[in-house]
Amino acid sequence: MLHGKRLLLIIGGGIAAYKALDLIRRLRERGAQVVPVLTRAGAEFVTPMSVAALSGHKVHRELFDLTDEAEMGHIQLSRSADLVVVAPATADLMAKMAQGRADDLASTLLLATDTPVLVAPAMNMRMWDHPATRRNLAVLQQDGIRFVGPDEGSMACGEFGPGRLAEPLAIVAAIEAALADGPLKGRHIIVTSGPTHEPIDPVRYIANRSSGAQGSAIGRALAALGADVTFITGPADVAAPEGTRVIRVETARQMLDAVQSALPADAAVFAAAVADWRTADATDHKIKKNGTLPVLSLIENPDILATVSKGADRPALVVGFAAETDDVIAHATAKRLRKGCDWIVANDVSPATGIMGGTENEVTVIRPDGAEVWPRMTKDMVASRLARSIADTLAGEP
Ligand code: C5P
Repeated sequence: MLHGKRLLLIIGGGIAAYKALDLIRRLRERGAQVVPVLTRAGAEFVTPMSVAALSGHKVHRELFDLTDEAEMGHIQLSRSADLVVVAPATADLMAKMAQGRADDLASTLLLATDTPVLVAPAMNMRMWDHPATRRNLAVLQQDGIRFVGPDEGSMACGEFGPGRLAEPLAIVAAIEAALADGPLKGRHIIVTSGPTHEPIDPVRYIANRSSGAQGSAIGRALAALGADVTFITGPADVAAPEGTRVIRVETARQMLDAVQSALPADAAVFAAAVADWRTADATDHKIKKNGTLPVLSLIENPDILATVSKGADRPALVVGFAAETDDVIAHATAKRLRKGCDWIVANDVSPATGIMGGTENEVTVIRPDGAEVWPRMTKDMVASRLARSIADTLAGEP
C-alpha cells in the first residue's frame, strides 16, 4: 500500500521521539521511502545516527545548510514528498504551524509545503488540554491538517491522560488513509454531525441526545474512500474523524453559516440532530430564580438540509437523516419530498431501540425509487455502506 510513496518525516522533541524509530522501520517494511528531518529538540532524544541508519537516508537538520541549499533547497525538500508526517509533534511545533512561523528547518518546510500534512501530537496532558493548544488544534484542523492521536494513557512524566503519541501502527494506518486513492478522491463532501446547543442564557441551553457517533463514522468512512471531507459538528460526545477538515459550531445558525461557507461540494450528508427551535430572546445574563417561572418563547431554527437542497449551490447528491419514533417510513418518505433532498436515511430512535447514544443502528434508506431496509449493524458499518453507495452514485453507477 505504501510502496513507492515518499514520506517526509519531521521528528519533534519529546520522549516519544523514540517511537519515531519504530515508525520508520514499519514504514520501510511497507515499501515507503522515509526522508527524515530532525528538529534540534528531537536530536536531544534520538540520535541522527539511529535515524539515518533506520531510514537509510541522510538526516536533514539545519535550515541554513549550504550544501542542501545548493543541491535541492528547503522548498523542494518540502514538496518532493507524497505526504509530510510530523511525529511526534510538540505543543511548540503545533503553535508554530498555527502561526505560520518559519524560524527553523521543520517549521519552514511545513510553511513551504504544498503536500498534505499529517500530525501526530505528543505532549504532557496539561499542555494538550491547555486552551492555547486547543486553539492551535482548531486552527490547524481548519487549515486541512490531518491528525492522528494523541492517545490517552500513562505518560513518561508519570501522569495519566490524553497526550501520548499514537502507536506506530496507528500512525501507519493514518498515513495509509491520507494517501488513500479511493473512488471518492477529488470529491468534496460536507458532513454535519452531533447536536446543536441553543442558548437560553450564558449557562443554560436547549439540546438533544445526539452523540455524534453516526456522523463521525460517516466522515471517517468517506475520508477512507479518499474524499476531501468538511466535517461540521456541534458539541458532540465522540471525537471528530481523523483526516477531515473539522469545523466546530454550537448553534443551528452557526452550522448553517459553516455549511454555506463550505459550499460548493459534490455531496452533503446532513447527519446532525439540529435543534428545531431556539429561544427567541437568549439573555446575556444568567436568569435568576426569583419565585416566578421564566417563560421561554421559542422560534424556529433555519432548516439547513432544506435550505441547501433548494439553494443555488446545491450539491449533486444531498442526503438527509430522519430520526423518528413512529411510522418511520411514511414520515421519512414525506420528509424527503418536503426537504427536497435526494435520499433520507431513516431510523427509529425510540428509547427501546438503544440507537440514540448506542453503537448500532438500523436504518431504511429512502431514495426516489423506493425504500431499502438495511439490517441492524454497527454505526461504522452503516457509514461504510452509505459511503460506498455515495461513491457509486457520484460515479454514475446505480
Ligand atoms: O425535520 P427533521 O429534524 O426531522 O429533519 C432531519 C434532517 O434534517 C436531518 O438530516 C437534519 O440534519 C436536517 N435538519 C437540518 N436543519 C434543521 C433541522 C433538521 O439540517 N434545522
